Amino acid sequence: MNTQSTVQGTTKPVIVTVQQHILSEQRRHSPQATGTFSWLLSGITLATKMTESRVRRAGLLDVIGAAGNVNVQGEAQQKLDVYADDALVHCLGIRDNVAIIASEENEQAIAFDGRSGPGKYVVVFDPLDGSSNIDVNVSVGTIFSVLRMPEDLRESDDPAQAVLQPGVKQLAAGYVVYGSSTIMVYSTGHGVHGFTLDPSIGAYVLSHEDIRMPEQGKYYSSNDAYWDTFPQAYQDYLSYLRRGELGRSYALRYIGSLVADFHRTLLRGGVFLYPPTDANPQGKLRLLYEANPVAFIAQQAGGYATDGHQNILDIVPQDIHQRTPLIVGGKSEMEAFERFMKRDELAGSLAG
Ligand code: AHG
Ligand code: MN
Ligand code: MN
Repeated sequence: MNTQSTVQGTTKPVIVTVQQHILSEQRRHSPQATGTFSWLLSGITLATKMTESRVRRAGLLDVIGAAGNVNVQGEAQQKLDVYADDALVHCLGIRDNVAIIASEENEQAIAFDGRSGPGKYVVVFDPLDGSSNIDVNVSVGTIFSVLRMPEDLRESDDPAQAVLQPGVKQLAAGYVVYGSSTIMVYSTGHGVHGFTLDPSIGAYVLSHEDIRMPEQGKYYSSNDAYWDTFPQAYQDYLSYLRRGELGRSYALRYIGSLVADFHRTLLRGGVFLYPPTDANPQGKLRLLYEANPVAFIAQQAGGYATDGHQNILDIVPQDIHQRTPLIVGGKSEMEAFERFMKRDELAGSLAG
């Protein structure tokens, strides 16, 4: 998007930063807003710029490799996981409108208290998504989700309760892909917009306004190494796509970083699947800080996401780190998937 405007008679491209965009969105859709959300978002963008500067120089700094401990997921924490997490905890911790945060890298939710007035927001995040790709210079990212702090839980001594809200309650969600360029994509429920980090000015600049997911794409994205342990209905669905029976041929693209696989699906259409497997019968991806933000953005862009039985956004979480199967894509691929799931449920009910 290159809006031209006359500045002293010359036409110069006008840049729109993510902060400007958030403020104009708030003025347009919530005139009563006091700018606290844009202040919150600036904490997230600052943390991602701090992380981005490490990702770009990972081989030169002591940020490659394992941090030497295991996180709550039972996974070896990478140094960049820890750095990205620390950056977000720090940048959000100094924004006094944040009441509680929850992170993939911390077992418990963190309540910020003793500051000027009660916080309005809960922020949940995957500070560094795609950790296994860091050391081989493949795109990684950060994923975040913003919820309102429930008034009736202010006095609760268990911050987790405020985090366990269904995805439909999200006020905003977004991600950053540290890829060939660094792109932030976010939605506050009024469309999906993308911003490219311009290193020469250190700002995220509007580059993808009002992103719409294509009704049908040409890629499916799943880790076919687990094919033999996918449920039969998933195998049948993927074979159907592979045979070109949804009206076109499909290619496989799988990067192994959810943010990168989803970003491609958002821009080019198609479908991403992380089905139940023997190793992860509930799915591998985490509901609160991977599936929900992705589902919110997909739905805002004309696609949607399911766990194989219901819309991801309707799932009521029981645990901060609970996992879920995730199937997310454009209208055609998702309607076809639902047909396979319904046929499978019908077959199951007939079999008694
Ligand atoms: P994280 O690095 O935050 O743990 O997330 C990794 C996830 C997700 O990014 C990706 O889609 C998935 O793991 C890949 O899993 P497989 O390697 O099992 O395919
Ligand atoms: Mn992740
Ligand atoms: Mn992660």
